Amino acid sequence: MSAGVTRRSRPQAASRERSGTLDVAVLDASGRAALISARALGEAGARVGAFDREQAPAFRSRWVRESGLLPDFVAEPDAYAAALLALVERYEPEVLIPAHDGSIEVIRAHRSELERRVAIALAPESQLAVAIDKAQTFALAESLGVALPRSVSLQAGCDVEEALAEVGLPAVVKPMRSWVEGSEERLMSLVVSGASELRAILALPGWRGVPLVLQQWVGGRREAVWLFFARGKIWARFAQVAYRMNPPLGGASILRESIVPNRDVLESSERLVREIGLEGFSEVEFRRDLSGRPMLMEINPRLSASIELGVRAGIDFPGLLYAWAAGRSLHEAQSYRVGIRMRWLGGDLRWLRATLGAAPGPDIPPRGVALGRFLRDSLRPSGYDYLVASDPLPALFASYALLRRGLVHYGAAARAFGGGRS
Ligand SMILES: Nc1ncnc2c1ncn2[C@@H]1O[C@H](COP(=O)(O)OP(=O)(O)O)[C@@H](O)[C@H]1O
Ligand SMILES: [Mg+2]
Repeated sequence: MSAGVTRRSRPQAASRERSGTLDVAVLDASGRAALISARALGEAGARVGAFDREQAPAFRSRWVRESGLLPDFVAEPDAYAAALLALVERYEPEVLIPAHDGSIEVIRAHRSELERRVAIALAPESQLAVAIDKAQTFALAESLGVALPRSVSLQAGCDVEEALAEVGLPAVVKPMRSWVEGSEERLMSLVVSGASELRAILALPGWRGVPLVLQQWVGGRREAVWLFFARGKIWARFAQVAYRMNPPLGGASILRESIVPNRDVLESSERLVREIGLEGFSEVEFRRDLSGRPMLMEINPRLSASIELGVRAGIDFPGLLYAWAAGRSLHEAQSYRVGIRMRWLGGDLRWLRATLGAAPGPDIPPRGVALGRFLRDSLRPSGYDYLVASDPLPALFASYALLRRGLVHYGAAARAFGGGRS
């Protein structure tokens, strides 16, 4: 896909005909996806509000007209749902855009009530269910011949040694769903190097009773395909390679680059999305094994945290999402710029701290190599998440929040250990 200009699908904001004070309410505003959506939609003329459980960089964006705090969807899911209803009644947005697996779970539980008042930028429930549950995604992938890492599901009381023998070492253990309801924190995939380590993880409070899968660790390139599918047609295709993630095994993309989608991953992604009929934005994640064969990781049926890369490369995913949810006409994205690099500095600092503090192993390079990569990439030109000259306050807020968290972390560690490195 060569350089080219993509037509922005203007939100054609119906502000004049609409009585509400907002056109779109972006939830999970502390995430990068929300900020980028707010900017893209605001710039295109929509009246945007941003909301979250905590103060967020997006609240400072010049494109955000209204912002507000919501209850915690983990501790008080019903209060969160009630607050969403109140928000919708107060501002009358046409569309609600959630971007976090946790808020999406609450919305799913209260969907019909909410949908009587506002369009939700999510695929219909039957489609979402297949993408959110890895067991269903994997079963579909198998039926379509899309390769997966060797996988076994871990049942309570299962034979850990047998499971490890089946997938091989090192292995990766992860929840069947990215978001486990009632958990304070997202359970991240973990590498295990042996049976005792796996047993220890299975005994952790947050992991007990959670449906898990054990997989062969595949250590190659991470490629993700983003698709926008609606009304029987794919309106946009995009691919990124992620060079680093936080946590280091895999999580949120830190340093990534727009690439021409490779045929193998693109074909598999399109088949999966079409088979599910998965409407709206979806991210199909792959990791290659050491021979270069792509293995499906999962499908995320919501905006990627990395979305700014696609937007900067020229595809207006937030505009598509808004227009689709509002039932308006869509424009097909033609091309985008490849070779655009973006870096999330806060994530990279965390990555550096994690890799310097751990013994080398799968996805943990030796300290010298980690430092070298961090420094080399600090010298290479790239875009930075949050940072645009035309809307500087979110970046300032994010830096301040990172610094504060860093100091608090350091302070707590110093108190706990009487000083020194945490
Ligand atoms: N079997 C595996 N081998 C190597 N890396 C993996 C494996 N499973 C997951 N990862 C890494 O961890 C990331 C998170 O795993 P994923 O399946 O996407 O779960 P989730 O995002 O729901 O936590 C992946 O994007 C990938 O980079
Ligand atoms: Mg993932």
